[in-house]
Amino acid sequence: MITARAHTNIALLKYWGKKDENLILPFNDSISLTLDRFYTDTSVEFDANLVEDTITVDHQPLIGPGLKRVTRVLDLIRAKSGHNLPAKVFSSNHVPMAAGLASSSSAFAALAAAAAKASGLILSNRELSILARHGSGSASRSIFGGFVQWHAGFDNQSSYAESIQCPVDWDVNLITVLIDTKQKKVSSTIGMQSVAKTSPFFPAWVKSAQADVKPIKNAILNKNLASLGELAEQNAMRMHATTFGAIPSFTYFQPETLAILNTVRNLRKQGVECYSTVDAGPNVKIICASTDNEKVITRLAAIVGQDRLVVCKPGPGVTYL
Ligand code: PMV
Repeated sequence: MITARAHTNIALLKYWGKKDENLILPFNDSISLTLDRFYTDTSVEFDANLVEDTITVDHQPLIGPGLKRVTRVLDLIRAKSGHNLPAKVFSSNHVPMAAGLASSSSAFAALAAAAAKASGLILSNRELSILARHGSGSASRSIFGGFVQWHAGFDNQSSYAESIQCPVDWDVNLITVLIDTKQKKVSSTIGMQSVAKTSPFFPAWVKSAQADVKPIKNAILNKNLASLGELAEQNAMRMHATTFGAIPSFTYFQPETLAILNTVRNLRKQGVECYSTVDAGPNVKIICASTDNEKVITRLAAIVGQDRLVVCKPGPGVTYL
């Protein structure tokens, strides 16, 4: 039995729309930061005595679309290693599931790494990234630590993530504001399909996201927090604009999401360098230097309470336990 640990990542340049639904190829490159606080541990064992795959996530048997995606990754690994053994998978998330905190990113990265190794495969991180992508697009990035770029690519082999900067040797951290950790109503898969099919803003989103790649990468390499934060916040707002333009229109924002976004803008006006990003859920993540954490936390705690704020630092890539 092999156990792997992968950490969640938060995109500063979002993946939002698939140009190939089967291969999970995104329209544009994306860039993320892997976090230290949220992770998934997954153990995999292939066993000839099993009748079928048994998947347990947080002590519950996995069913539905999640199970299909796990099976897809396991099947790819079985094909690659030339065996057809059923797997026993045991996974525990140290992250609130499906609340826009990207639990799928850590889950499928840990699964790909553990299952490949349990099959006796020795794969590069790039190959693991390609495998993880088949479970969840964002998982391709969680194979790596620190700042990561997922190249959109044009086929299975050209769509993979790679490290931009790891370790991250400058002061950047991310404060997670847990507004609602319940399962969201519109999954990222459904949300992406809806905007790509119906939102007139979608083509503009793809164009502006791809144009953001170089500037965001440069901001990271130059360790320029203000530039990185500004670009990341704009990118997130443009992603969410596509949902307002969809038919039927929808949003992941909740009243507290807007309250936090406003507070961050106001803090900025007062000279505190902090910036927001929001994924396919109501929770806001705030990018700032740790030297500003106290100022940011004091203001946010007044809205949501201190217990719903989690300070995260850059985290590592996939490891084996
Ligand atoms: O990997 P998925 O299918 O859960 O999609 C993730 C989409 C966003 O979190 C909204 C953006 C991203 O790049 O992580």
